[in-house]
Amino acid sequence: MSEQNKFWKSSRRIYRFLIVVCVLALVLGIVIFYMNHGDTDIKENGENEYTTFSNDDPDRIEDGIHVRTGLVDAPGLQETVTNCTSCHSAKLVMQNRMSAERWHATIRWMRETQNLWPLGENEDIIVDYLVTNYPPKNKGRRETLTDVDWYELK
Ligand code: HEC
Repeated sequence: MSEQNKFWKSSRRIYRFLIVVCVLALVLGIVIFYMNHGDTDIKENGENEYTTFSNDDPDRIEDGIHVRTGLVDAPGLQETVTNCTSCHSAKLVMQNRMSAERWHATIRWMRETQNLWPLGENEDIIVDYLVTNYPPKNKGRRETLTDVDWYELK
């Protein structure tokens, strides 16, 4: 064998060796990747992360009440929570018992002066929800005062 032939043979061997190393590294990488992937799946299910989340879920309903906001669970709850509880508390919404007309007017007022975004068809859904679940109280006269701290006129 000539010197030149020997040289080519040995360098081909080196190339083959390098290719084998590369392929092994690739396979190893893929195996490790899938092992990590499998790991997270096991964690999510095995440690019941989902159950933990649902127990702490701020959007859960208990006894017909949306826990985070205190709003009644009824059709339109989701739209109302999404659109009406980010600027002020839902209490402000619940306290105000209005007719549909006055709700639309209040919403218009918030649109014009408080940067409330356009509600589109959700406006009717929300107003229906409010009028149905927080109907205006029809009272002939104001409620009797209770717990009043009277003071002496001087
Ligand atoms: C972009 C912010 C924003 C959003 C969203 C918003 N509001 Fe308001 N709203 C306000 C501000 C600001 C006030 C005035 C608060 C105050 O006076 O302290 C207000 C006041 C109110 C009041 C009291 C009005 C009064 O006459 O005193 C009611 C009722 C009300 N909002 C209901 C709603 C309802 C229902 C929605 C959903 C459709 C909603 N808000 C969404 C900003 C918003």
